Amino acid sequence: MTTFLSGIQPSGRPHLGNYFGALRQHVAAAREPGEHFYFIADYHALTTAPDAASVRESVRDIAVSYLALGLDTTRASLFRQSDVPEVTEIAWLLACVTGMGLLERAHSYKDKVAHGIKPSVGLFTYPILMAADILAYDTDAVPVGRDQVQHVEMAQDMAGYFNGKFGEVFRRPEARLPESERFQKVPGIDGQKMSKSYGNGVWIFESGKALAKVVARIATDSRAPEEPKDPDGVLLLDFLALFLEPTEIEDWRARVHVGGAGAPGYGHMKQRLVAAMEEHFAPARARREALLANPAEVDRELAAGAARARARAAEVAERARRAAGLR
Ligand code: ADP
Ligand code: TRP
Repeated sequence: MTTFLSGIQPSGRPHLGNYFGALRQHVAAAREPGEHFYFIADYHALTTAPDAASVRESVRDIAVSYLALGLDTTRASLFRQSDVPEVTEIAWLLACVTGMGLLERAHSYKDKVAHGIKPSVGLFTYPILMAADILAYDTDAVPVGRDQVQHVEMAQDMAGYFNGKFGEVFRRPEARLPESERFQKVPGIDGQKMSKSYGNGVWIFESGKALAKVVARIATDSRAPEEPKDPDGVLLLDFLALFLEPTEIEDWRARVHVGGAGAPGYGHMKQRLVAAMEEHFAPARARREALLANPAEVDRELAAGAARARARAAEVAERARRAAGLR
């Protein structure tokens, strides 16, 4: 039986990159046969979050988002990372077999430092905690966006170091990317990778005027609609491709490519994008409203998920302690 696990940091509202690269994949994967663990990485968020109150609020927001998007919690355990303390114990055991060099090569760490974040030890050892998250549940498959692949590879390395020293304790996980390349690295409104830390995101449940306003900010240029353009260089078409059926997106791309009187302007594309997003998320938006009115239900789901997750992590942690010779 395949075990799936993934996590998302509660460091802000989920954006389209989180949706296509992670949430949507998780909800879909949870329909496949196997075991499923999805968690909200509150300890990870502390590496960069301004304060714990914002993390707590965001935990709730992400939990509500998962449930609103249709995660089937009869099949998948949804929980908060800090409800499974065994994970931090496993992280320590992994830290003791991992060299500094592996962590120094982490792109995400280097990238955050390059963006001016003053790193704590917690930020530096982020990949160890993430490896513990993965290895604590005997995970086979980790559905993530492309930016997390290196972290999953580091978890493979750490499992290898530990098993090499102490015998076969941890199962080797594999990253699983969304089937279509356009979902693996969703662009932000400025054309860079969409990320909470770059302020270039579109919240998935945005609607009405607020949605029109953020879509209006998607980067364009001053070329006239009639001018023929390479569709691959038009950011709005990348956004539309996330939502439209293949025949419709092909038609938009062809008209942009040919130019002339029948070609759409950027304003047109923006209108279509707003309509497509409103429609795509309408059912989930309605479920979200209902969940916000019933916080006790969300708490119940998180508690039930944590109990199941903790039972598994406790077994694996005990196996690891024994193998390391502490028992
Ligand atoms: P952020 O970069 O906004 O802080 P996270 O690091 O919390 O997002 O990522 C949560 C999940 O969403 C991960 O699985 C990650 O791979 C995915 N993800 C984040 N941004 C994107 C993106 N632009 N395109 C595709 N997937 C993404
Ligand atoms: N680092 C992931 C992110 O930023 C979140 C995360 C923490 C995670 N632990 C994980 C993802 C374990 C997959 C598996 O998105």
